[in-house]
Amino acid sequence: MFAVSALALSSVFSAAGVASAATLPSLTFNKQIAPIIYNNCASCHRPGEAAPFSLLSYSDVAKKGKLIAAVTASHYMPPWKAEPTSYSFKDERRLTESQIAMIAAWVKEGMPEGNPSDAPQLPTFKSGWMLGEPDLVVELPAAFHIPAEGADIYRNIALPLGLTEDKWLTAVDMKPTARSVVHHVLYFADPSGKAHLRKDGDEPGFPGMTAGNAPIQLGGWALGAQPHKEPDGLALRLPKGSDFIIQYHFHPTGKAEAEKALVGFYFAKEAPRRTLMSLQLPPTYGLFSGLDIAPNTKDYVLKDSYVLPADMDAVSVGAHAHYIAKEMKMTATLPSGEVKTLLWIKDWDFAWQDRYYFDHFVTLPKGTRIDGEVHWDNTTDNPKNPSNPTIRVTWGEQSKDEMGSVFLQGVPHDEADLSLLRNDYGKHQNETMNARIKSDPAFMKKLQALLAQ
Ligand code: HEC
Repeated sequence: MFAVSALALSSVFSAAGVASAATLPSLTFNKQIAPIIYNNCASCHRPGEAAPFSLLSYSDVAKKGKLIAAVTASHYMPPWKAEPTSYSFKDERRLTESQIAMIAAWVKEGMPEGNPSDAPQLPTFKSGWMLGEPDLVVELPAAFHIPAEGADIYRNIALPLGLTEDKWLTAVDMKPTARSVVHHVLYFADPSGKAHLRKDGDEPGFPGMTAGNAPIQLGGWALGAQPHKEPDGLALRLPKGSDFIIQYHFHPTGKAEAEKALVGFYFAKEAPRRTLMSLQLPPTYGLFSGLDIAPNTKDYVLKDSYVLPADMDAVSVGAHAHYIAKEMKMTATLPSGEVKTLLWIKDWDFAWQDRYYFDHFVTLPKGTRIDGEVHWDNTTDNPKNPSNPTIRVTWGEQSKDEMGSVFLQGVPHDEADLSLLRNDYGKHQNETMNARIKSDPAFMKKLQALLAQ
């Protein structure tokens, strides 16, 4: 009802330019706007969360009214980079066109507060952990200090967890203390339990991007990303005695900060019946794809394809790259020839990395070809380009370097196909690496230098 009248309202405004608000049914904060803000904005825009100001009261919202109308119209807020694709995503943070129009119309009308009896209840949030109280909370043993200035820092900080039995991890969440400089983190487990013994200087942890070769990848966290529990009882194995490693990417902001996060772990009661695995296109964030972007290149593309050797159920999709990436896409060409889009990000933003979970598992039959592509815009037209004039950009860990791939997380449709899928995708990774070594004899040297950094 409201949706229709608000749309009509906004078109009256735009058609007539001026309209007498008094003669039209009036939109108020209490009646129409507060529910939109509480349901779509307040989870981040409240004390202690990622957003820089709260949007919980009439005056909070009215003070920012014009800006709110602008950032909702441009789809900058709520942050959600994935376009609608062939399959719907869970917890999609996307306002409807009529909600956006309602906000615009309300701001034009002078932002009336309305009748207090219409005001909805303030939203309530669980304990501060978005997924509820964790099964285990661990604090970093000591603070890591990030200077005010300087290059980006990759730092691996390991925590001994003291687990005396294997656990099945359904989710990890963390509360960084230096939120403004933590760009993203990746999580790893080191089953040897030795990573926390590694020292490098006075600060906790050690540098580099391999997490000390910790073999188990456990996802990550980035500004704007919501922690998710793996759906349907799925979980990742965390072997007993493991160290948990947080690989931080810090980006100094002009103010010195100290990071001493709390990390919350959520465990499944029992082992899952199906095993999660991940396909990356191209593998290893494009490390073996010869990424080399000349200055002032408008559209540099990396593409990769992989054909499924068995049926797979897709659970989620995501992407990773640095600042100058522009567009990412993943499609599935079914054996029938039909093309489905799994992920499409038209306007990549490094600040908003998220993982997109499908509403329902998407069954991709054996023989489905998965195509991934990542585009970069290395011109000064790209407002996110950190270099002006533009420079040659190659693969690396600093933000002015690039890397990039799209990924698909899923389970074998039939668990019996797990090793077939794993081995076959492993073969794809090896082929990509071997092709690079063949075409670039100096590659192994470069790789060693990168890994030693
Ligand atoms: C997932 C967390 C999240 C959600 C949900 C969210 N925001 Fe934000 N918002 C942020 C963060 C973080 C920033 C600051 C970083 C930035 O500006 O990119 C921000 C910034 C803003 C700004 C300032 C933009 C500027 O240019 O200064 C406005 C206005 C805003 N949000 C409004 C909203 C509104 C309205 C909604 C709901 C319709 C919303 N946000 C939902 C996290 C969120």
